Amino acid sequence: MSGAEPLDVLVLGELNPDLVLTGGDLTPRFGQVESLVAGSTLTLGSSGAIFAAGCARLGLRTAIAGLVGEDTFGRFVREQLRDFGVATSGIVTDSTVATGLTVILNRGEDRAILTHLGAMAQMTAAQVDTDLLARARHVHVTSYFLQRGLQPGLPGLLEQARRNGSTVSMDTNWDPDERWTDGLREALRHVDVFLPNEAEALAITGATSVAAAAEELGRTVPELVVKLGARGAETWLRGERHQAAAIAVDVRDTTGAGDSFDAGYVHGLLAGLSVDERLRQACVCGALSTRAIGGVGAQPTVDEVASIVRKPAP
Ligand SMILES: Nc1ncnc2c1ncn2[C@@H]1O[C@H](COP(=O)(O)OP(=O)(O)O)[C@@H](O)[C@H]1O
Ligand SMILES: [Mg+2]
Repeated sequence: MSGAEPLDVLVLGELNPDLVLTGGDLTPRFGQVESLVAGSTLTLGSSGAIFAAGCARLGLRTAIAGLVGEDTFGRFVREQLRDFGVATSGIVTDSTVATGLTVILNRGEDRAILTHLGAMAQMTAAQVDTDLLARARHVHVTSYFLQRGLQPGLPGLLEQARRNGSTVSMDTNWDPDERWTDGLREALRHVDVFLPNEAEALAITGATSVAAAAEELGRTVPELVVKLGARGAETWLRGERHQAAAIAVDVRDTTGAGDSFDAGYVHGLLAGLSVDERLRQACVCGALSTRAIGGVGAQPTVDEVASIVRKPAP
């Protein structure tokens, strides 16, 4: 992507492949016992990359700022993103860091996840391409708690993005340390749309209901979108709740459903859809993404989303 081309979305995101193991005996046993599994897939992982791929699939001009090592996993991530149509000029390669990896032991209805953070925790705000930041209509931050190196400089970056006229969204995902702080409140002051899932919204606020969490977060963030898994999602805007049900799909793997949902929501925001329309579109994007193993194998195009959204509810 050259300097003059317009850019819809810049993702400030962590990058890593997912190694998904399926079927057979997925319980690791120490003592050098070798167990056989039925299948293995190396696929584009990380919320940052899955969200970016989802946006590109929906037709948004998308770039990602991220950090990888000079290694096989880093090359894999970069090539995959390029194949999905995501601009990769903002990915920094650093020979002194190792690209992280997530290993997923997938039992269908449940999964165990092992992650080596590596480079994910090491990108800093100074490494974010300021030209990309200046050009983007929208900036989205993924996996706040994993991107530890980015945290200190993030409020400044987001403030600059909004000064340029960009809108800003964030999906923190889970905090592996379960502290739920690490400067998050300061960063949220510069966020227009916050997209946690239900457990995350409750953990961040200490509230016991989504309504209470929405009231609390509503003091900082104008638009709160809470993802409810197979129950759909809701948006809280100016104290008012909007709801959308999930759609029925043949679920194979829910990895990345939240990121594909986010892509659908941001697409709707940039396309000027109403809050109910963008919430519904996001639910469709999240659901359709679960049809394949991994996060990026079944993300929909806008035409596919439109064909479902237009269908009357049963
Ligand atoms: N089993 C499912 N069936 C249908 N839709 C689903 C299912 N799981 C997720 N989705 C859709 O994807 C969205 C995001 O998934 P969710 O699991 O809530 O997010 P996260 O991965 O961030 O926890 C949901 O709001 C829903 O619309
Ligand atoms: Mg999530």
